[in-house]
Amino acid sequence: MNFKIPRGTQDILPEQSAKWQYIEQRAHELCRTYNYKEIRTPMFEQTEVFARGVGDTTDIVQKEMYTFDDRGGRSLTLRPEGTASVVRSYVENKMHGLPDQPVKLYYIGPMFRYERPQSGRMRQFVQFGVEALGSDDPAIDAEVIALAMDLYKGLGLTDLKLVINSLGDKDSRTAHRNALIDHFKPRIEEFCSDCQARLEKNPLRILDCKKDHGHELMDTAPSILDYLNESSKAYFEQVQRYLTAIGIEFVVDATLVRGLDYYNNTAFEIMIDGKGFGAITTLSGGGRYNGLVEEFGGSDVPGIGFALSIERLLMALEAQGIELPIQEGIDAYLVVMGEEPKNVAPKLLHDLRKQGLTVDTDYLNKKMKAQFKAADRLNASFAIILGEQELENDSVMVKALSTGEQEEVKVQELVSYLKSKKK
Ligand code: HAM
Repeated sequence: MNFKIPRGTQDILPEQSAKWQYIEQRAHELCRTYNYKEIRTPMFEQTEVFARGVGDTTDIVQKEMYTFDDRGGRSLTLRPEGTASVVRSYVENKMHGLPDQPVKLYYIGPMFRYERPQSGRMRQFVQFGVEALGSDDPAIDAEVIALAMDLYKGLGLTDLKLVINSLGDKDSRTAHRNALIDHFKPRIEEFCSDCQARLEKNPLRILDCKKDHGHELMDTAPSILDYLNESSKAYFEQVQRYLTAIGIEFVVDATLVRGLDYYNNTAFEIMIDGKGFGAITTLSGGGRYNGLVEEFGGSDVPGIGFALSIERLLMALEAQGIELPIQEGIDAYLVVMGEEPKNVAPKLLHDLRKQGLTVDTDYLNKKMKAQFKAADRLNASFAIILGEQELENDSVMVKALSTGEQEEVKVQELVSYLKSKKK
């Protein structure tokens, strides 16, 4: 029987995982500077968490969730995104009572969506996301956007486009919603069955329909920006002022609606210029979700966040030919010759590793020449040669593999010797 990896998933093999670790490390460091703290929630939740949180008219909930009953008959779902889980945890752990407000959280972990796999669209993908709960200061909207942009720019990406929109507060949304219904209703039978179902439930989602996007009524649909009330308008303008003050360029696109239901006021996506990139050019997305905490039984706590997938980030780096400064190679390779040296080698290796040096050795009883070859392949800075003669002298030969120079070094001095050469 030959087993194959499930569609839309991937093995991250060692030569790739160094890149993942590097990016994850950068995300951790960035969150530290912005003072966001890590939260780890389970990979599955009660199905209701997403059905309610993400919204039952969304593609995610209608078509893309990995939902199953466990042996106790409970309906569980592999998380398709992070926000609903974080809000569930926020409410359950009464984080609104914490002394430090707003509560600023981030996560890095796998998400699962049953989508049609293509380049940049996986069934399992890793999101890095942040959520700030407890403030409706437009400055925090700008902070979240700045954090996302900083990660991309810090890795060297260019040709990024930040697109922002406002979906308005509840009143603005209701006014816009009614206008959309009036606009589409007379000709709704020209639209797909999904859109027909969306008309009364959530007409905003029609604007996001992939099947009907060429329909003439799409271009003439009422724009949310014409329906923003005074406070929503002022809020949106303030977010823009902050972005400008920080020096972040953006474009306003009134058709940006996002694929999840919980958004209001600020919504944004970061896109990349399509050259050399696949059909999918959205690198990340997010927005404000005042009201979601209440939906989960909490109090009236506002929230904002965003998420990006590391898969798409890596694709973008590749498309732009950006090499990450990943440290390859090891400090030293221990070449062992002879019975007695082999007996003492494990302790010597252990001592070197305890001192923070990256070292490896031969476990296949290779001949000396083959051991040197292995050292080269591993890109070792030094070969440490331990033979009978060296053992007798309580020393080793250290050979710099780049120059071929070699020197006898006492075993007690080996660590300081290697460390001084490393500098
Ligand atoms: P989303 O737009 O569904 O938003 O996903 C955010 C990002 O996750 C996308 O821009 C993309 O980078 C990545 N992504 C989504 N689906 C896939 C996929 N199938 N394969 C690869 N990457 C994917 C959310 O998930 C919201 N929770 C974001 C948010 C946080 N809003 C507020 N807080």
